[in-house]
Amino acid sequence: MLKLFLLLFAGTLFALAPARTFALTPQQATPQAPAAAQPAAPTGPMPIDAANPVKPAPAVLAKAKTLFNMDCSMCHGESGNGQSDVAKSMGLTLDNWTDPKALAGKPDGLLFDIIRNGNGKMPAETKDRANDTAVWGLVLYIRSFSQSQPATAGSAPQ
Ligand code: HEC
Repeated sequence: MLKLFLLLFAGTLFALAPARTFALTPQQATPQAPAAAQPAAPTGPMPIDAANPVKPAPAVLAKAKTLFNMDCSMCHGESGNGQSDVAKSMGLTLDNWTDPKALAGKPDGLLFDIIRNGNGKMPAETKDRANDTAVWGLVLYIRSFSQSQPATAGSAPQ
């Protein structure tokens, strides 16, 4: 009698198992629906060897400068030297981008990826702040800090 009961019990579990899986599916799908509707869905990491498709035209660099001074300079410093009050108060040790060695070993695709997705205490620059073209512009702009003068509209080469 006990054997029969156990068999029935096991049978009931088997019968329930697919039903539970099925019941979860529509619930899981619900929170995904709004995300799928967002136009700026995450595109995944940028390949490290991706080439920068944007050219360092003066207008591109001028736009990048404006964006950098709004979203980045509070930590990295306006000259990109990594010295800022925020960096100090957060205890951040930031690379000095005026030194050509600082970014030399970091390919454009990696810089894009760090800017877009963030890294540790480095916040992500999301698509509502900057589209891909603007992020590539930031990559060009931060590289320009190690040239004698940051490439900005109006600054004459020495
Ligand atoms: C809250 C401070 C903060 C802000 C704002 C910030 N960063 Fe950073 N950034 C960091 C920190 C900290 C790191 C080092 C992260 C790590 O551990 O790799 C970093 C690293 C980077 C790196 C990787 C190369 C390197 O020198 O380590 C790039 C590129 C970069 N930041 C660009 C930017 C850009 C562009 C912006 C603006 C869109 C920005 N950051 C805004 C804190 C910040």
